[in-house]
This record gives sequence, structure tokens and C-alpha cells, in this order.
Amino acid sequence: MSSLIRREIAGVPVAELARDFGTPTYVYDAATITQRIHALAPFDVVRFAQKANSNLAVLDLCRRHGVVVDAVSAGEIHRALAAGYQAQGDPAPIVYTADLFDRESLALVVEHGIAVNCGSADMIDQYGAEVSGGDITLRINPGFGHGHSQKTNTGGDHSKHGIWYEDLPDCLRRAERNGLRVAGIHVHIGSGADLEHLALVAGAVEKLALEAGDQVHAISAGGGLPVPYRPGDPSMNVDAYFVPWDEARKRLEDKFGHAVRIEIEPGRYLVAECGVLVTEVRARKHQGDNDFVLVDAGFNVLARPVMYGAYHPMSLAPCDDEPREEKDLVVGGPLCESGDIFTQEEGGFVRTQRLPDAKVGDLLLIECAGAYGFVMASNYNSKPLPAEVMIVDGKPHGIRARQTSEDLTRLETIPPVG
Ligand code: LLP
Repeated sequence: MSSLIRREIAGVPVAELARDFGTPTYVYDAATITQRIHALAPFDVVRFAQKANSNLAVLDLCRRHGVVVDAVSAGEIHRALAAGYQAQGDPAPIVYTADLFDRESLALVVEHGIAVNCGSADMIDQYGAEVSGGDITLRINPGFGHGHSQKTNTGGDHSKHGIWYEDLPDCLRRAERNGLRVAGIHVHIGSGADLEHLALVAGAVEKLALEAGDQVHAISAGGGLPVPYRPGDPSMNVDAYFVPWDEARKRLEDKFGHAVRIEIEPGRYLVAECGVLVTEVRARKHQGDNDFVLVDAGFNVLARPVMYGAYHPMSLAPCDDEPREEKDLVVGGPLCESGDIFTQEEGGFVRTQRLPDAKVGDLLLIECAGAYGFVMASNYNSKPLPAEVMIVDGKPHGIRARQTSEDLTRLETIPPVG
């Protein structure tokens, strides 16, 4: 039988999930998330970049396992509070990391005393004007970066992110003028970075921390840890990755004469592999040389392929017991746009993926979809946002209901005419 046939997710039959929750639905295995949390144990603080998956059930799971969170918007702060995070504490349970404050987020961090990680000089001044002293951390762009796509590379001069490393002295002076202590240095060079680039970050952070001096009590490695999407991709060796960070920390501690904490801020690493997008095959067609499988989810549900040419492993839960031969298939969705293809390279070039021959009524599973899946979903083509399910100890729980057609128009009004 093809190894690409999969009838269960975390012990629950896929057919049962589709029957009870409908399709398309994101299904998350809680045990995978907790396993990844434990793998990061060498780090003093694990801060989940909730932009990867901010469902309250995921945040609650993280909180119960000692993971704190990052927030990039007022909405993400509200989510963290709703999931039971305290506004303040040591380490800060919630840190607002961004390159700007919109008015709502500035008001919210000041109201709740949420910690801030400033990615621009303007943030330092605007925050300083609202508070009377306290700690901040600085997000520095070290002048180099890397990501799985140029769109997720956040270091270097093409990137809007972080305080340019040469501006650190100016930002230190600004912080001082505002009565703020720079208690931490943070660098995030990109998402899905390769290990060669990640290996350079500890040295860069050490140098920046020395420049900031002994007010620094924490260094953050940012996120960006890669996960194996393609067959044969290596898995992250966390223990090996930790070594240069620990060495840098020890040198800083010797120099400063006090403890220095190491934070890590992964999104994808914690949640990508826990997630499967369950879709139903609704049509098959041949167009010249291409053999298409059309499912009921499109880039409205999972945008990574159309945005980055991202590869996702897929498998099939057939609707019958007939043997299925493997074929090279193109997988697409229901949207009225040619780019609505899950098997594509960056730039929109269609490719194929080896899959069991799919029939209408089969369930097609798009895997490794727990990170930047639901959170990037949209209502394009007036499609409702999908449902989300979390499997805990072999039991599926609905953690977000599918939107309804009423939800789609709920905020709209037709102006009175005549
Ligand atoms: N910290 C900061 C400051 C970030 O900007 C990000 C991601 C992370 C941590 C987490 O990165 P991760 O560990 O998940 O790689 N939508 C894209 C990813 C965009 C990431 C943006 N920032 C994707 O689907 O691949």
C-alpha cells in the first residue's frame, strides 16, 4: 500500500473528523506541540511567536507548559490575555515586538504594562513619552538575514525590520534620555532560516550586548528554526544549536558580573508539524499533460504555497478500500484564480506531487500546516474561515467553529438610498 495513504490523525480516523467537523478543517495534535516545547528545554525562556498559530487553545496549551508569548499587534495582546496570560511578570509573559506602535497597541501596552521590544527608534521615543521609566528590549537588524523565502528574510538592508545595527548607539542614548533601561537585545534574522545563517546570530547578539553594556540581562535568539517540510529535510538539533548561545551567555555573564537569560522565540518549530489541513476531493480533471485534483480548500485557507511556493507534504484518506496507484498530481482549490494551486514553485509555476490516485469523495490531507495556516486564511471569494480542531489524548475537540455565511456579511451595511 502507498505510504501516502493516511487514515488517522493522532489516533482519530480522518473520516470521523470530516464527518463531525466538516471540511476544510485544520486539525492539531496537542502532543506534538508539547513534545516540541520539551525539546527546547535547554533555553531559559521559550517565547511562542503566536503569529504562527494564535488559536486560544494553542496559547492555553503553551501557557500550561511554561511557554510565554510574543505579540505583534493589539489583537495578539488581547488573545494572550484571553488565554490566561498575565500582563506582567518575570520573565514577561507577553512581549510586544514590532517596528511601530499603532495607536491602539501603544495605548494597550501602556494600560496593561506589557513589555515592549522596540524595532525602531520612534518606538523608543513614543513609549518613553507615555511611561515613566522602566525596561525595554531592542530588536536589532544585524545587517544579515535568511529565510525560506526572500519574503521571510528579516535581516539586511532590504528589510524594514529591527533597529539597524549601526544605530544601536543612537538608540541607547534615546533610551537613556527617556529614562528607559535596555535590559535585553533581540535578533530575529528570518523565518525558516538555514542553520549556517542561524549559527552566526549568537556571535552578532553577543557583540551587540557588549555594546549595550551591563544593563543587558537577557538575550533573545529570535525564532526562525526550520522544520522538515520535504522528505529528507533535516530535523533541528536543538542541543547543538544551544551551544554557541550558552557560550556567548557565559562570556557576557563574566563581563557583566550578573546572570544573563537566553530566550528563544519560535513560531513554526512549535506548531508546524502538529497541523493537518483536512480537505475533500471534489473534482478531477486532465488539462493536457496535467492531472488535477481539486479540493474544497484553496489559498483562502492555506496561503503558503501561493505566497512563497511553499512545499507541504500531502497524503490521502481514500473513501473506499480499492488499491490506489501513485501518480504525479497537481492539487488545486476552488477559488476563481489560477494561482489557487497547492503544488507550485515560487513565481506560480505549477509542479506535481506524487500522491495516490485520488477520487471525488476522498479526503486529501495537507500536512505540516499548523504554522501560518489558519492565521493567514482569508474570506477571499466569500469563503468562510475553516474550522479548527485539537486532538488531546486521542479525543478531538472543536477549538474554532467554521464561519457561517451570516458571519461573512455581519459587519456590512447598505446605505439608505432615495
Ligand atoms: N520572531 C519574530 C520577531 C518574527 O518576526 C517571527 C516571524 C518569528 C519570531 C517566528 O518565526 P518562525 O519561528 O515561525 O520561523 N508567513 C511566513 C512566516 C512569516 C514569519 C514572520 N515572522 C510563512 O508562512 O512561512
